[in-house]
This record gives sequence, structure tokens and C-alpha cells, in this order.
Amino acid sequence: MSEKKLQAARKAVEFVKDGMVLGLGTGSTTRLAVDEIGKLVASGYKLVGIPTSIETEKQARSLGIPLTTLDQVKEIDLTIDGADEVDPRFRLIKGLGGALLREKIVAYHSKEEIIIVDDSKMVDQLGVKTPLPIEVIPFSHVRTKEAIEALGCVASLRGGDRPFVTDNGNYIYDCKFKVISEPEKIERDLNSIPGVVENGLFIGLASRVVVGTEKGAVVKERA
Ligand code: A5P
Repeated sequence: MSEKKLQAARKAVEFVKDGMVLGLGTGSTTRLAVDEIGKLVASGYKLVGIPTSIETEKQARSLGIPLTTLDQVKEIDLTIDGADEVDPRFRLIKGLGGALLREKIVAYHSKEEIIIVDDSKMVDQLGVKTPLPIEVIPFSHVRTKEAIEALGCVASLRGGDRPFVTDNGNYIYDCKFKVISEPEKIERDLNSIPGVVENGLFIGLASRVVVGTEKGAVVKERA
């Protein structure tokens, strides 16, 4: 287990207050935060969670965290989630864990989204290190891929001959751009392609980023 991830997870959970509705992200860093939230519940905190994946749902249930759905509550007080890349303006790439669609819906409906990462995820420009995951409908997905590639990337079907299937029954293309210099434009362009369900660019959604470093967790606030 990475000590940096654990430090970031623990620091983020300090923002959890009794009575909150919490969005529970997905991934190895968030897993550590959900463990900490489980401890709060065990100590008597009245918390309710909304998981962003079947994997997180199983973990939360095993820890006794009460769960609900977004259709039953109007808003989420706080969501804690990981990311694959974070730029200086808190624009993110998410989805290497495959949960980007539910993660984005939950982030959109959260009053606050705290992102927890180790310092290797902080980048000057998005797309330099990791591909951008894009969730697509299986129907006609090869044509959808061609339309995505026309935006200037190379798209690989996750899982290849045995495609990875998301919790929503869709496929994911991991799309390698040289760099994503205009994330807002790429997001708009992707969302206008029929067959694209959602993309891993999270823009304007993160309010705080907690970064695990050699010297401990650093909390960064959005400017
Ligand atoms: C899940 O779909 C992703 O968005 C994860 O939040 C992201 O990949 C970070 O995961 P790790 O904490 O495992 O690096």
C-alpha cells in the first residue's frame, strides 16, 4: 500500500462531518478513504454513502456503511474520489479504473468534490502520461472509435478481443493524445459524437485536491 495514498485518504476524511451524505469514489486511493469512513460509522457517525461502482458498493457494505442512491437524496454533501491526472487548474483525467460515468454523475451532484492522489498524478498538462478513457455504447463502437480518433488521438479498446464491460454495460476506449491542450474543447467535441456516453475529463468539478507527498498530505484549494 502506498503511504502517500494513505496520507491523502486520511486527510480527506478529516473533512467528513457527522450526518453527511457522501459520494464514494472508486480506485485504490479511494478504497483507503472508504476504509476510514467505515471506521467513522463504526464509531457512531451517521453517514450515508452513494457508491460510484459495484466494487465500492461491495466494500462499503462489508464495512457497514449505510447506502442510498442519488434518486433518493437531492444532493451529496461531499464526494471523495481519486484521479489519474490533475492539472494546475484542477482539471482531471479519471476512469483508468473504469468507473468514470457514475463518478462524473456523482461529482456533478456533489456540493464538494475532494480528489485524493499521490504526487505522481500532478501534471502540467493533461494527457501527457495517461490515456483518456472514453465510455461508449457497444453498438457500432468501431465507427464511434473512428470518430473519436478524428479528434487527434489513438484509441484502444480496453480488454481487446475480450472487451472490458463497465458497470453500465458499455465499453471503454483508452485514447492517447500527445497532449490535451484544450480539455474544454475536447470534452465538447467528444460529447457531440453519437455513441460516446461519457469521457474521463472532469472540468470544474473538483474543489479541493489532497496530494500525498514524502512530507505528508498537502491540501490544495481551487483558486
Ligand atoms: C476509477 O474509474 C478512476 O477514476 C479512479 O478514481 C482513478 O483511476 C484513480 O485510481 P487509483 O486511486 O487506483 O489510482
